[in-house]
Formats: sequence, C-alpha cells, structure tokens
Amino acid sequence: MSKSESEYCKNSNEMQPTTETLTQMIVGTWVSRAIYVVAELGIADLLKDGPHSSEELATATGVDARALYRLLRALASVNVFAEGSPGYFELTPLAECLQSDRNDSLRAYAIKFGQAWDWQPWGYVLESVKTGKPVFKNVFGMEIFEYLAENPEAARIYNEAMSSFSGKRIAAITAGYDFSSIHNLVEVGGGHGSLLASILNANPTMKGVLFDLPHAITAARQLIEAEGLLERCKLVSGNFFESIESGGDAYLLKHIIHDWSDEQAIAILKNCHRAMLDRGKLLVVEMVIPRGNEPFFGKLLDLQVLVNYQGGCERTEAEYQALFEAAGFSLTKIVTTVCPLSVIEGVRKSGSS
Ligand SMILES: C[S@@+](CC[C@H](N)C(=O)[O-])C[C@H]1O[C@@H](n2cnc3c(N)ncnc32)[C@H](O)[C@@H]1O
Repeated sequence: MSKSESEYCKNSNEMQPTTETLTQMIVGTWVSRAIYVVAELGIADLLKDGPHSSEELATATGVDARALYRLLRALASVNVFAEGSPGYFELTPLAECLQSDRNDSLRAYAIKFGQAWDWQPWGYVLESVKTGKPVFKNVFGMEIFEYLAENPEAARIYNEAMSSFSGKRIAAITAGYDFSSIHNLVEVGGGHGSLLASILNANPTMKGVLFDLPHAITAARQLIEAEGLLERCKLVSGNFFESIESGGDAYLLKHIIHDWSDEQAIAILKNCHRAMLDRGKLLVVEMVIPRGNEPFFGKLLDLQVLVNYQGGCERTEAEYQALFEAAGFSLTKIVTTVCPLSVIEGVRKSGSS
C-alpha cells in the first residue's frame, strides 16, 4: 500500500530544521537554474490564461515533456508554479513575476543568471575570496563591460535584465526623491534609459542627457523614442573615465559606483564634478549597507560584484561619504526609498576639482 503524499513529506521533513534549511541553501543553485529554464522558455506567459499540462507546455516550447514535468514539479515544491490536477500546472504569485508583460517582471533577470558569463565566474568564488579580486577576466580574458561591448546578444540580455530588475525600483526612486528643482539631468551609465525616462515623464519641464557606452546608447534610442522623449533627452555615447557630457545641474548614477574600486569610483565622480555646473547635485543611487545581521539584498549583491566586477563593492554610508569628499562633493543627505536603493545626494563644492 502506498503512503499518502503528506506521510512522505512528513518523513522527509523530520530532519532537524537547521539541517534542512542549510540543505535548501546549499542546493540553491539548482532552484536558480530551474527558474532560468522556465524563464527562457516563457512558461509563465503560456500559463497566463489558466492551467496547462506539461505535455502541452512541452509541445509549445519544443522540449522533452517528461523532463519539463520534472522541472515544473521541482519548482512547484518551492512555490514557483503549482500542480493542480495531476500533470497540470498553474501560476502562483511567485511564478506570476516571471511573466513578461509586468512592470515588476523578473523574467529577464532570471535569464541573465542562466548565462555562462554570469554564472561561470561564480565557480571561482573561492579564488576571489583568497585574492580579494574579481575572476571574470580570468574566465573570459577581459573585463565584464569589455565582454558586453564585444557580444551584442550578451549586452542585450544584460541591459534587459537591469531594466527588468529595476521596474518597481525605478518607480520607487522617481517617487521617493524630489527631482523637481533640476533643469538638466545627466544620467551617467544609464543603460537602456528606463530610469531617466521615468524621471522625465514625472517632471515635464526637465531636460535629460543619457550617457553610456556606444552599444548601450544605440539600444537606448528605441526606448527613449517609444516614450516620446527624443526632443527632451539627448543621447550621448562616451567613456566615463575620459569625460562626461557637461552642463547638467545634476548627475545621476544608478548602480555605477558599486561596480568599481575606490580609485576608479573617485575618477568617475571627479569627471562628474568637472562636467557639472557650480553647486550642481550628485545623485548616486545604490544600496547603502546597514550595520547588523538583518537580511538586506545589497549584502548578497556585494558578492556578485566581488566575483564579476573590476574591484567594485557595496558600501556603507561612511564609505560613500569618503568617496564624495575625495571627489570634491559634500554628502548632503541620503534619501531612502520603499525599495533597497537609496539616493545619496551630494553637492559640488565650489573651487574644488
Ligand atoms: C550595472 S549597469 C547599470 C545600468 C543602469 N544605470 C541601471 O541601473 O540599470 C552599468 C552601466 O555602466 C555602463 N558603463 C560601463 N562602463 C562604462 C564606461 N567606461 N563609460 C560609460 N558607461 C559605462 C554600462 O554600459 C552599463 O549600462
């Protein structure tokens, strides 16, 4: 006589809770990779109008039906999808976040985590911890932004992931900081331009400049045009280590400074300082690391930065204060938002450069 489902679960959960919790953490990469596969296949979109069998989903996506069933069953065990009638899967609140057409969609973000250029360097995280240095270049022979510049498909996935990850965060920043006194906002390293577009839409008299590497600016044109902002938003390609478009009364950098070492970050900030009007504002958007053991996404993101980016790190308030001072800015305030990102505001000190 076969045991009921709850009996099997009860037996497997009789391991010590701590052991079981740690086991789930250890195999966390399995869950991450499984989520990548359903994101790549667009399974959440296919379930939009109701449940489907794994056979139907396999036919629609051209994959092996039994393997897809096993994948969805595993994900249902961690609340991503649910198996209702046997063999039929439906959306759960977690799975809904993998649908493409939501402003908080994480589909593109999950797809990024399945790319070799994102996960392979993690295989060498011990090396990063031993040396304190990133390993991306050891694996791919060049730094991450050079790699993206040379691989258009990787760059597309990267930038879509950044925009997708940022959906709700962009709304939180646009609403959480008062941009109304700014006339000409330069976003440095703005990627596809979704944050700048959101701020310009919320502040109809403001003008903007989107500044990034050439490949990112080419891709950004589509979004800025679709938002009807080409008249108010100049697209400028360049290298922020050389010079940055001048004349803005505010310079915004979201998820830029954390990619770089202190020395490199100060060089970027000094170039902002040179480019901006006197008493201009510096707006650095990052996750400011709090003290203590509370869960905070920035503490985990810091490891991704350690492994993949050229000397970058997530920083504390005191560390941002020191960077600002070194580049000629006074840190005036830190505005927290409803998401883990804060706007760290600085003012250009007169006379310094
Ligand atoms: C982590 S992404 C952040 C993108 C965007 N600000 C966001 O938060 O979604 C870093 C951005 O910096 C740009 N970038 C990297 N190196 C650069 C350089 N030397 N000059 C200008 N932009 C650069 C990349 O192309 C990319 O768009």
